[in-house]
Amino acid sequence: MKALLLENTHPDARRLLEDAGLEVTEKTSALGEQDLCELLPDFQVLGIRSKTRVTSATLAGAPGLLAVGAFCIGTDQIDLSAASARGVAVFNAPYSNTRSVVELAMAEIIAMTRRLTEKDRAMHDGVWDKSARGAHEVRGRTLGIVGYGNIGAQLSVVAEALGMRVVFYDTADKLALGNARRCVSMDELLETADIVSLHVDGRPSNSALFGEKEFSQMRPGALFLNLCRGFVIDHEALRAHLLSGHLAGAAVDVFLDEPRSAGEEFRSVLRGLHNVILTPHIGGSTEEAQADIGAFVGAKLADFIREGTTSLSVNLPSVALPPPAGTHRLAHLHHNVPGVLAEINSVLADHDVNVEAQLLGTRGDLGYALTDIGIDYEDAVVARLREMAATVRLRVLS
Ligand SMILES: NC(=O)c1ccc[n+]([C@@H]2O[C@H](COP(=O)([O-])OP(=O)(O)OC[C@H]3O[C@@H](n4cnc5c(N)ncnc54)[C@H](O)[C@@H]3O)[C@@H](O)[C@H]2O)c1
Repeated sequence: MKALLLENTHPDARRLLEDAGLEVTEKTSALGEQDLCELLPDFQVLGIRSKTRVTSATLAGAPGLLAVGAFCIGTDQIDLSAASARGVAVFNAPYSNTRSVVELAMAEIIAMTRRLTEKDRAMHDGVWDKSARGAHEVRGRTLGIVGYGNIGAQLSVVAEALGMRVVFYDTADKLALGNARRCVSMDELLETADIVSLHVDGRPSNSALFGEKEFSQMRPGALFLNLCRGFVIDHEALRAHLLSGHLAGAAVDVFLDEPRSAGEEFRSVLRGLHNVILTPHIGGSTEEAQADIGAFVGAKLADFIREGTTSLSVNLPSVALPPPAGTHRLAHLHHNVPGVLAEINSVLADHDVNVEAQLLGTRGDLGYALTDIGIDYEDAVVARLREMAATVRLRVLS
C-alpha cells in the first residue's frame, strides 16, 4: 500500500505509516484539484493539512483510496459526505492543540492585565514608565468563558490554578471543573466577568454571536479575548468599545478575512489600538501541537490500515476490536439497513466459517462491522460478502 503525504506533515506521521508497512511519498506543498486527481489513483492513503481540498471529483477519480488524514484540527477542506459515500475513512486531530490555545489565552490575559504590550512599546521608544497605574494581578479576577468545550474547560483549570475565579456559559450541559460556576445565560456571565474569553465552535448559528449588545453588557474596564473563530464577533463594535475606554483591552487571534500568504497585508479595524494584542491565528501553532498532530493522525491511519479500527473517525462509525491473533479480519462497511449483520453471518455459516470476534457500529446511513474469522476459508466467502446489496466496501485484513 502507498501513502501520499502533502503540506509538510510532521516526520512522525511518515514513521508511523512506514512501520505499518506503507510506502510513503511526501510533497512539501499543497496540491490543486487537477494535480491531486492525477496523482491520487496510485495511493490508498492521503495525508493533508488545511490547504489541500479533497473534493467529490478527487475522490471519484481515486476508487482505491481507503483513508484521508487531516493533519490539522478542521476538516472543512474535505467533502465528508462524498468520502463517506465512497467508504473513505477521514481522521483528524481534534485535541492536539488544545493546550497551545489555552497557554496563549492565559499569556494574553496576564499581558493585558499588566498592560505589558504598552510598557514594551514605550521601552522600545526610549520611555521609562515605572508607574503601576492600570496594572493588576490576575489573582482574584473573574474569568468568563463562553464555550466550555475542550479548550474552554482546560482554560478554566489553568486559570483557577493562578487564583482566578471562573464562570462559564455553554449551550450544552457541561460538568463544571474545579470551583468553576456555570451561568444560566450569557447575560449573567457578562455581568459577572472581568475578562471574557470566547471558545465556541464554528457552527453557522455562532455567526455574529458577539456584537454591540454583548460588548455593551460587559463590565466597564473589562478585557476581551477571541481565539475561536473570526466570524463570531463584530470587530467594528469591539473597536468602538475599546476607543471609548469602556473596554480596557482585547486579544484577537482569528479574523474574518485572514491573509492567505505571508506576503499579503493584514487588514483590520483593530490595528494600532492601545492594549490590543493581535496575533496571526497562532493559537494552536506550537511545535508541540504539530508533533502531537503528526503522531495522533499517523497512528489513526496506521491502525485503520492494519486493524480496520475507526475510533474517532470524523465520518465513519467508530469501531475498535483488539488486534486479531491467528485470524483474518473482515472489515465490512455497509449501508445501515436492517439485517446486514444477519446476512454477513449467514454467508459465513453457509461456508462453515466460525466467527471468533465481532463488533458492529452504526452512524447515520453507514454501518461498519469488524469480524474475526479463522484463516482457512474459501474465496467464495469474500466474493459473496462483496456482492451483498448493502456493501459499500469490504477489506480483508490478516
Ligand atoms: N486560534 C486557534 O488557532 C484555534 C486552535 C484550535 C481551535 N480553535 C477554535 O476554538 C474553538 C473551540 O475549540 P474546542 O476544541 O474547545 O471546541 P469544542 O467543540 O470542544 O467546544 C465548543 C463548545 O462551545 C459550546 N458552544 C457552541 N456554541 C455556543 C454558544 N453560542 N454559546 C455557548 N456555548 C456554545 C459547545 O457546546 C461546546 O461545548 C473552535 O471554534 C475552534 O475552531 C482555534
